[in-house]
Amino acid sequence: MALADILDRHKGREGPLLPILHDVQAEFGYVSEDAIRDIADALNLTRAEVHGVVSFYHDFRTTPEARPILKLCRAEGCQARGVEAIAADLPADNRVKIETVYCLGLCSVGPAAMSGTTVHARLDSNKLKALVASL
Ligand code: FES
Repeated sequence: MALADILDRHKGREGPLLPILHDVQAEFGYVSEDAIRDIADALNLTRAEVHGVVSFYHDFRTTPEARPILKLCRAEGCQARGVEAIAADLPADNRVKIETVYCLGLCSVGPAAMSGTTVHARLDSNKLKALVASL
């Protein structure tokens, strides 16, 4: 899907910037400077306004990430369920980028993680290792 298709999909929508940025990130893996310029033009915003939103939210990146990403929740709920112990048990491996997030909405079934749009719950050390190896 091209950026123009994403912009078309959100045309006329109220508050389209975040949904557009999420779609761009999902489609291309990051929000490029060219995309920021085109989004700003389409929404009649300045590039600084769009860039400000992109840089405010940690989920958006402006450069591509070559490695697979696993978002591991380290908020209180998952801490109480042992996420720090299973994270410490992971072998050192730079093949997968482990990003810390704070709550995936799965607190009662944590430790939880997310890869792409798939969430993983009730992780233990072996499940987390297998998940990382599968990415
Ligand atoms: S605290 Fe981890 S999912 Fe909510």
